[in-house]
Amino acid sequence: MIMKKIDISTNINGIKISSCIMNASGILCCTEKELYNLMMSSSGAVVTKSCTIKPRKGNLKPRYFEWKGGSINSMGLPNLGIDFYLNFLEKKNSKKPFLLSISGLSIEENYLILRKANISSNMNAIELNLSCPNLLEKDKILGYDFSKISDFLENLFQFYKKPLGVKLPPYFEDFHFRKMAFILNKYPIYFVTCINSLPNGICIDINKESVVIHPKKGFGGIGGLSIKPFALANVRKFYTYLRKDIPIIGCGGICTGKDVFEYILCGASAVQIGTQFLKEGIPVFDRLIKELITILKNKNYSSLNSFKGKLNVF
Ligand code: SIN
Repeated sequence: MIMKKIDISTNINGIKISSCIMNASGILCCTEKELYNLMMSSSGAVVTKSCTIKPRKGNLKPRYFEWKGGSINSMGLPNLGIDFYLNFLEKKNSKKPFLLSISGLSIEENYLILRKANISSNMNAIELNLSCPNLLEKDKILGYDFSKISDFLENLFQFYKKPLGVKLPPYFEDFHFRKMAFILNKYPIYFVTCINSLPNGICIDINKESVVIHPKKGFGGIGGLSIKPFALANVRKFYTYLRKDIPIIGCGGICTGKDVFEYILCGASAVQIGTQFLKEGIPVFDRLIKELITILKNKNYSSLNSFKGKLNVF
């Protein structure tokens, strides 16, 4: 019997990615060693930790906690600063695509970072993080301020000429999905990643009768398995409302190959792994690839295009 080759590669607006499964920004992608490990792994691309103009230590510890159903974090963007990541990209000796995640503390800081990135030669695309829920310096997540985002993107595309995608917070109302898609559809957006963690969750230790993380009186972003239904819904809504040439990268609660399959079925072109990558480390990518390929084999699908976006509804 001839075995059909199963192709799980994907294409993000011309960026060819050999496996549709990659790391989510924030997870083991901050230091040189972590980025090198990802570069050598079977992660389809490497997404860097969201960076600011200067290095940051982030919020006070404890700032991460996980349980069976998910995780809570309030890291506060610990990162080594844009110059470190641009330098790493200049030096790297690999054809694997790199998505440079940036998250300035203000719109002005984002412009500064983007101006630096605009002249870098060795970067495939920016993933502009509009959704960090953990900044003590900010009271609002940029992704929830539609008029600010609109002005920001208008100004940004006056000078920024390289590929740029955006990472969004979760939305819940149909009206908000439509509104954000309407804004993004006006610009040459390369991809949309959804979702970042669900903001303002709280977890409790009943022995200590206390919250489990220190910053922001215990409030933090929720990730992992418990957010998957919301993340899938965000992928599906944006798949419906975004221009068809804007690929979606799904993120949130992926633990198995079946989860990856569900995301692609909802319309994602690729997926990112956060909490589960932190739990399992680099071997997670091989396991998920294997599990996804087994599902495709059983269904007699030869590539993602056989089922991407083809979710049946009643
Ligand atoms: C953080 O560093 O606080 C997490 C980043 C994010 O969720 O965007």
